[in-house]
Amino acid sequence: MATQDTTPIITVDHVSMRFNLAKEKQESLKEYFVALTHGGVRFDEFFALSDVSFAIMPGDFYGLIGLNGSGKSTLLKIISGVYKPSAGKVTVRGTIAPLIELGAGFDMDLTARENIYLNGTVLGYTPKYITSKFDEIVAFSELEEFLDVPLKNYSSGMVARLAFAVATMTKPDILIADEILSVGDFLFQQKCEARMAELMSGGTTVILVSHSIEQIERMCNKVAWLDHGHLRRNGLTADITPEYRHFDKTESIPADKPE
Ligand SMILES: Nc1ncnc2c1ncn2[C@@H]1O[C@H](COP(=O)(O)OP(=O)(O)O)[C@@H](O)[C@H]1O
Ligand SMILES: [Mg+2]
Repeated sequence: MATQDTTPIITVDHVSMRFNLAKEKQESLKEYFVALTHGGVRFDEFFALSDVSFAIMPGDFYGLIGLNGSGKSTLLKIISGVYKPSAGKVTVRGTIAPLIELGAGFDMDLTARENIYLNGTVLGYTPKYITSKFDEIVAFSELEEFLDVPLKNYSSGMVARLAFAVATMTKPDILIADEILSVGDFLFQQKCEARMAELMSGGTTVILVSHSIEQIERMCNKVAWLDHGHLRRNGLTADITPEYRHFDKTESIPADKPE
């Protein structure tokens, strides 16, 4: 590359996300309102993200690491525009292909064939364009024999294959893959890794969440490490994952609570 693009493709700027969870489960809506009027509903409020700031550069392969519940999916949903942050803001320069929840965007009662068209249309493609990509999608997802079966009869691995194939039907500026690869077998993982590498060489920026620290180390040049909503560290993968590997839960920073 002749010139280096020094403008971030994604800027996460002082982002916080506050969630309310009803502490006691109310049996019915009536009970809920009775409890509410008697001041009996207690809310457990906490910050799933606390003042998180970092930037992702074009062409980065960015890993998001952290224990379960550390806020990775919440952050990806904010970046994808599914959630509006309680504070702060995210700036994105480009198109996003989000793979943030298994089967999101699919109708489980429809067949794979119908879902490819439905999803493609939602992503803004014309039926003609989807038809031109159809065989490629089917080949990648290896679902030739199951095209006319409703998705509710698919295994999670099959849904993941289809979702990945649809999301990468064109070259997005940004591909977000949230644990999508963990449900498939290793052949599917290898195929996805190859496809992500191919997209990257074409200039796509990738954000990856994976339980496999080996996969993060293999694929990602940079990582951000979340701990109960706090950005613990971010930077070059090789500088951070050795510490993460030896991280002890007792050193964890607790989630912030509102005063
Ligand atoms: N919609 C929601 N409402 C309330 N709490 C939520 C919601 N989504 C996630 N959480 C909570 O926020 C925290 C972070 O969750 P999440 O972002 O899914 O973590 P991760 O993806 O790192 O496992 C968890 O404690 C989770 O239970
Ligand atoms: Mg998650």
